[in-house]
Amino acid sequence: MRNIDSYTHTRGESIYLDDIPVVAGTLYAACFDSPVAHGKVLSIDTSEADKSAGVVKVLTHKDITGENQIGGIIPDEPLFADHHVHFCGMPIALVLAETDEQARAAVHKIKVEIEPLPVITDPREAMQKGELIIPPRIFKIGDIDTAFKNCDYVFEGKADTNGQEHLYIETQGAYTVPQENGVIKVYSSTQGPTAVQRAVSKVTGLPMHQLEIDVTRLGGGFGGKEDQANTWAALCALGTHITKRPVKYSLHRMEDMRMTGKRHPYSSDFKIGLNKDLKIVAYEATFYQNAGAAADLSPAVMERTLFHCTNSYFIPNVTATAYCCRTHLPPNTAFRGFGGPQGMFVIEAAIAKVADELGVDATVIQQKNLLQTGDELPYGQKVVSEANECWDKTMAQFDFEAAKKAVADFNAKNKLQKKGIAVMPICFGISFTNTLMNQARSLVHVYTDGSVVVSTAAIEMGQGVNTKILQVVAQVFSIAPEKIRVNSTNTYRIANTSPTAASAAADLNGKATLIACTAILERIKAVAAVELNVDASAIELKDEFVFANGKKTDWDWKKIVLHTYNKRVSLSEHGHYSTPDIHFDKSKEKGHPFAYHVYGTAVITATVDCLRGTYEFDSVKLVHDFGTSMNQIIDRGQIEGGLVQGIGWMTMEEVVYDKNGKLRSNALSTYKVPDIYSVPKEIDVQFLQTQKDNLAIFRSKAVGEPPLMYGIGAFFALRNAIKNFNASANPAFDAPMTPEKVLMSLYPQKVKILMDKKQLV
Ligand code: MTE
Ligand code: HPA
Ligand code: MOS
Repeated sequence: MRNIDSYTHTRGESIYLDDIPVVAGTLYAACFDSPVAHGKVLSIDTSEADKSAGVVKVLTHKDITGENQIGGIIPDEPLFADHHVHFCGMPIALVLAETDEQARAAVHKIKVEIEPLPVITDPREAMQKGELIIPPRIFKIGDIDTAFKNCDYVFEGKADTNGQEHLYIETQGAYTVPQENGVIKVYSSTQGPTAVQRAVSKVTGLPMHQLEIDVTRLGGGFGGKEDQANTWAALCALGTHITKRPVKYSLHRMEDMRMTGKRHPYSSDFKIGLNKDLKIVAYEATFYQNAGAAADLSPAVMERTLFHCTNSYFIPNVTATAYCCRTHLPPNTAFRGFGGPQGMFVIEAAIAKVADELGVDATVIQQKNLLQTGDELPYGQKVVSEANECWDKTMAQFDFEAAKKAVADFNAKNKLQKKGIAVMPICFGISFTNTLMNQARSLVHVYTDGSVVVSTAAIEMGQGVNTKILQVVAQVFSIAPEKIRVNSTNTYRIANTSPTAASAAADLNGKATLIACTAILERIKAVAAVELNVDASAIELKDEFVFANGKKTDWDWKKIVLHTYNKRVSLSEHGHYSTPDIHFDKSKEKGHPFAYHVYGTAVITATVDCLRGTYEFDSVKLVHDFGTSMNQIIDRGQIEGGLVQGIGWMTMEEVVYDKNGKLRSNALSTYKVPDIYSVPKEIDVQFLQTQKDNLAIFRSKAVGEPPLMYGIGAFFALRNAIKNFNASANPAFDAPMTPEKVLMSLYPQKVKILMDKKQLV
């Protein structure tokens, strides 16, 4: 079934935040944000802005009616800077004016004096200075000390990954409209309506029931709106609470890039030990996470780095330590993969290092160490593995040996163009790592005309979750999709929502919907059974008709629904689902946190222009474990999108802050994301469809985040191409592998001469 949004999307009729018709009297907001990354605020002078044309009010921390606090996990993040600023882009004042232009003009008239303080941008430096947001966490299995002593090979190294700008097409924003009795309706571009509700409640001092959060859809979130939509909603709601007028703030792209956090950069050390058979026996990793100026979701992101630090491999002795380091960057946040990709890059770097040192193919080491069913991960969960199935199918389906030979043949014939090939297996755990968040509710109403409306906590952000929810309803009732409407996500219909994140939205909200629809169906069946004088177990609803003992009756869906109502039986249900069998004990760092894991294997081939350092990806061919995909069109879209986003992170997207903590890659002219020309020339997605039981909705495994991690293979394909040009090249494990870095890596000897002569810095 195609995505239910495709019709309005292609006609430009889909409603995003900025498309909501504004109410008369709406004020427009604009932020004055800190130009300094760390400093003492000496004075804030808004007098000129107050007098500026159209300005109704300028808000600062002094105007907050509740608490000046928006921290989610830890209350360490003021909404408005008061006496200190902690990052460039931190809100200091908010102008409310009659028009957007007037609000933005007035921002320039605000004068703030800041005494600069020392700025830290590097997580290792933060760690040395004791700037940790939470105490370090350590995941441990076996005994690495003994194991390293008995290894035949031990290698050490460093591996770094940079941040990533979310670059959702729809920027952050909110629109708040006063209702009667002090209620505020908040339209927000958020993945987490309840997170918005809590933040707005805290900042305004209004109880949660005075706040209605409503979300139709997002023009992308990618994790960037799991926590960081709160700021704009809180700012607008405060404005509405104080002025009693609607307030709208839709960020400009450069404001969004400057003021919001990104994927966490990590700097990491690894030590890997193997025996003669190339089995990885011991692995030690230390992760320095650049959290930015406040906790935001960093502790949870860091936890997932530890969960995924061994990727798709079984390693019996592991010690992984992670530090959540406070720096003066905007608070970094969730981004597709949620710290997992950062952990997986390091083990892949460690394997590449072994391959370099021993002169073997990395694929040989990868393949020998793949997880098998029953293997225990460092955090105690035993896996049901599809790692070998995906790997083997990839090798066979795409004839990996022939592909390798083609690369070698090309390289033998070409001097200034070199190809590289790499394989990237993935293993990703599905569930919020915070067990309590794995719950969801769904509200289903069947109307007397047989049409159905469903509301859940799921946020549609392009990933197709609404289509999947609709499919659940259609399947349980056996009715046509046209009879079903998926409502906007609204905190008055569905309360206490977990954010749409962790790839779990379809599973959690789909299962809650399944429960709700099944309950209604059972009641309808009971009514039909009485009418048809059979046992309820003999009733079936199929293709909009009632069947009794397998025989079609003249009771159609509409007739039986109306009859159920006439019998005063409820046609509504509020279903609740919580994932069974998951648990995690943080005091031991052991448990069974994930409902299941998703696997896959990708082969990536790259061609490098060795004169220019530029490159192309010839192909990405992969086998992905979908369980039993309930929507192959949507799932394929998620694989392609995630893959390209991952390649972007690994190869071209370069977040640059200067040493003063100012974002230099602050626009699309300086921050390069993949366009259609940088997409691999061929993407071949093969489905590993399994029949095994799992906790996914209709056994259709979660697909949102895992494919991003195939992109890690792009880094290693480029690295291999560079080594195929210059065997003595030793490119650092320092992503992204931009064309500049490729060029420098191709000619290390020349670079050294230029560096010595100080002609290159
Ligand atoms: N796909 C699109 N088109 N837009 C998005 O913002 N977010 C990703 C992924 N795929 C995203 C997307 C992220 S970070 C997550 S966690 C999942 O979708 C969330 O949705 P799901 O739980 O329904 O998979
Ligand atoms: N994944 C994504 N988002 C989250 C998680 C998680 O495990 N925990 C809290 N928010
Ligand atoms: Mo996704 S990073 O869990 O929103």
